[in-house]
Amino acid sequence: MFYPNWLCWAFFTEGWGLFFSEEPFNLTVLFSSALLWQYLVGGVSVTGLLWSALWVVAVRRYLAGGLCTSTARLTGQTVVITGANVGIGKETARDLLRRGAHVILACRSFSKAEEARRSLLGEGGKVEVRLLDLSSLQSVRDFAAGLVKDNIKVHILINNAGVFMCPYMETQEGFEMQMGTNHLGHFLLTNLLLPQMKQHGEPARIINVSSTACLGGKIDLDDLFQKKKPYDALQSYSNSKLANVLFTRRLAHLLRGTKIQVFALHPGSVVSSATRHVMSSTFFKDYVISLALKTTLEGAQTTVYCATEAQQHSEMYFSDCAVGWAPDASKDERLAEDLWKLSAQLVKLDEEKHPPCKSVLDVNAKDAFHRHHVQAGGCVYVRHVTRAIAIFSRSLHPNWLCWAFFTEGWGLFFSEELYNLSVLFSAALLWQYLVGGVSVTGVLWSALWVVAVRRYLAGGLCTSTARLTGQTVVITGANVGIGKETARDLLRRGAHVILACRSLPKAEEARRSLLGEGGKVEVRLLDLSSLQSVRDFAAGLVKDNIKVHILINNAGALMLISLVMTLKYRSSSTTQVR
Ligand SMILES: NC(=O)c1ccc[n+]([C@@H]2O[C@H](COP(=O)([O-])OP(=O)(O)OC[C@H]3O[C@@H](n4cnc5c(N)ncnc54)[C@H](OP(=O)(O)O)[C@@H]3O)[C@@H](O)[C@H]2O)c1
Repeated sequence: MFYPNWLCWAFFTEGWGLFFSEEPFNLTVLFSSALLWQYLVGGVSVTGLLWSALWVVAVRRYLAGGLCTSTARLTGQTVVITGANVGIGKETARDLLRRGAHVILACRSFSKAEEARRSLLGEGGKVEVRLLDLSSLQSVRDFAAGLVKDNIKVHILINNAGVFMCPYMETQEGFEMQMGTNHLGHFLLTNLLLPQMKQHGEPARIINVSSTACLGGKIDLDDLFQKKKPYDALQSYSNSKLANVLFTRRLAHLLRGTKIQVFALHPGSVVSSATRHVMSSTFFKDYVISLALKTTLEGAQTTVYCATEAQQHSEMYFSDCAVGWAPDASKDERLAEDLWKLSAQLVKLDEEKHPPCKSVLDVNAKDAFHRHHVQAGGCVYVRHVTRAIAIFSRSLHPNWLCWAFFTEGWGLFFSEELYNLSVLFSAALLWQYLVGGVSVTGVLWSALWVVAVRRYLAGGLCTSTARLTGQTVVITGANVGIGKETARDLLRRGAHVILACRSLPKAEEARRSLLGEGGKVEVRLLDLSSLQSVRDFAAGLVKDNIKVHILINNAGALMLISLVMTLKYRSSSTTQVR
């Protein structure tokens, strides 16, 4: 129910322009109802009026959720949006067009899509319509072939179309309709477009619009279409949305090291025609229930955020323009892999012709150096850092305002802070004793303050459980300090860690102390103040055919007061720094 960004500064400080431009109707209706209520129960007062205004705005702002404030332009980028003739898809198209993108509305009804296209003309960018019926694998293949034939480079693929709680129906191939359309249709479409998205080599994004309903999903690989049980439309929808997140997770795994980022998201509870199979359009649905839901524009915000600003995250699940909490079931790597295999079989994906990612495991070193999907931790709210710095004059980081800061990392904290906590707590007790005597309340308050202050000072603690088996990490300056502790952590995750240090004896000592942590640790000579040494180090890695997955440029010299560094050009190609 609660998403962490509701506890963040940006939620209260940003997006108000968009909010007020979108909400006049809801705010007016709610405010008038509040006034009417006051009038009926005892008379309208100025205080009552102000309180009503405040509450109405606060409640609607909360319901509107995260609003994307990115100013990114998408000129020169092509976006495919499935199911873009109405609802969230259409509003996503409108936003991306305003950013200058070329948007392809991939819809099953040509007339509805043409109507949408006409209403989007003049928004900017370029909008076109192509036929795509996700409930027919032939239509998916034709659509993909059309893009390839017309040599269209897709930069952003938004798998948005969805069927919600329809009665039992089947796709052309005989799959249950919700799983067939929401998951299998998009699975095939993505796989058919992937080779071209990788080939063009430009940064790309794949966005799967899932739903919070995935929390109730259960993937039964022996009965993916619920044919062995009585049909439950809601369960089937939830399963298909869980499949979206599992698909995203597997895709992220297979695309590691490429320039393609993947996202799954929950758009929020949105007024749209999604409920057409459950509830027909009535005054109650359109004007009363809608007061408690997001508008379609608000529902499109997280998709837009993922298309513009978001960075892929190991949680694989976004909500309200921030990283959300994915259901545990979606984190089952084995299930994600098995579902991928089953889906590939069902849609008859020719994995020879369409390898999910042949290049993944042999990412060339250049990519590995330039790209770094933060799988093994990293703060979700990096994007807020700049803003918070501006506001708090460099004193507060936004993750201190986030839920995770208060709920996670306590084990690590207490195991690391015994000394500091004991000293500070003893000092606090001594102080109490000196100024007037120790009391139970005083002891409790001291403990609370000491823990709070040290927790604040300790800052963000990485609670990722990601394994790095099979990955090679180079850490410069890893014989002491932060570098050595980073090495220890990554070794425990199973990585092969190379301590790149300038002093062989010191590095050897560090290596010995790290033996037994797990993974594999080795030492290589690297003196960053000598370019020849840097070249030799890199050449050594290449010669030994070592694939580097993570490069941590950690070494640093701080305030070297008496050391005079002189550049001496020894030859035209080599520089030696002494
Ligand atoms: N609305 C919500 O509260 C909510 C909450 C969570 C998640 N979502 C997800 O958000 C996405 C968009 O939903 P929405 O609210 O915008 O719903 P919507 O207004 O009903 O739009 C759904 C779109 O999907 C298209 N579609 C359905 N079956 C298709 C098929 N076989 N081939 C191609 N297109 C097909 C529809 O086309 P037609 O118009 O031709 O039928 C329509 O364009 C869905 O994936 C939905 O599951 C929505």
